[in-house]
Amino acid sequence: MTRRPYIVGNWKMHGTRAMLSEARAIDRAAQRHMKVEVALAPPFTLIHPIHREAEQISVGAQDCHQADGGAYTGDISAAMIADAGAKFVILGHSERRQGHGESDALVRSKARAALAAGLRIIMCCGETAQTRESGKAVAFVKKQLKASLPDPADTPADVAERITIAYEPIWAIGTGNVATTADIAEMHAAIRKLLIDLYGEEQGREVRILYGGSVKPENAAEIFAVPEVGGALVGGASLTADSFMGIALAAGEPSDH
Ligand code: PGA
Repeated sequence: MTRRPYIVGNWKMHGTRAMLSEARAIDRAAQRHMKVEVALAPPFTLIHPIHREAEQISVGAQDCHQADGGAYTGDISAAMIADAGAKFVILGHSERRQGHGESDALVRSKARAALAAGLRIIMCCGETAQTRESGKAVAFVKKQLKASLPDPADTPADVAERITIAYEPIWAIGTGNVATTADIAEMHAAIRKLLIDLYGEEQGREVRILYGGSVKPENAAEIFAVPEVGGALVGGASLTADSFMGIALAAGEPSDH
């Protein structure tokens, strides 16, 4: 792995300003672990407050709208989150796909909008338990990713800088169940091959592929040892600095302190 491991906290719909102290603690700890790239995706309302104070971590959003602006009550554009200080956006999370009926085509249009606004994207993919049991998980995820990522023609040249993939089996999210290391290895290898097919050897090989789904300090080292795992997208365990930075620590040794 040539790029630094990338550890991203997805706070989902958790956090008011009372959580800013936790973000501060994460930022301070991240300054001591420079071998790891640490980022937080809080709710929209905390993007700017965290961005304003953060010295090390980058801040992102959990979704954005596909249009630049207009009569879309309750929505927020990529340019707006960028203006608030976001450097990236998570797209196609299963909670958006399932809870908000987001299709691959919609996710793809959001990805195009986010990239055009200068943001980096974390593109999520993952299968249901039923698909996993039917033995079709790899085929499903490849198809989902291919349909959700923008066309290579619409993608900036620095793909590996701008795009990260997060493989999150739906049945592993928030459940305490983690995919086996063999299943993670198989899926990440298949995703790597797809990325090389799409973006060419040089860029496709560099894109980081995160694993997500019940990652905790206790299981992180084992997951990071799997080939092609470039970091983690962390939900529940990112809500406290202690557990989140426990995961970051497992991804790289402290640089100096
Ligand atoms: P979890 O969530 O770590 O709480 O399982 C991961 C995610 O949904 O990104």
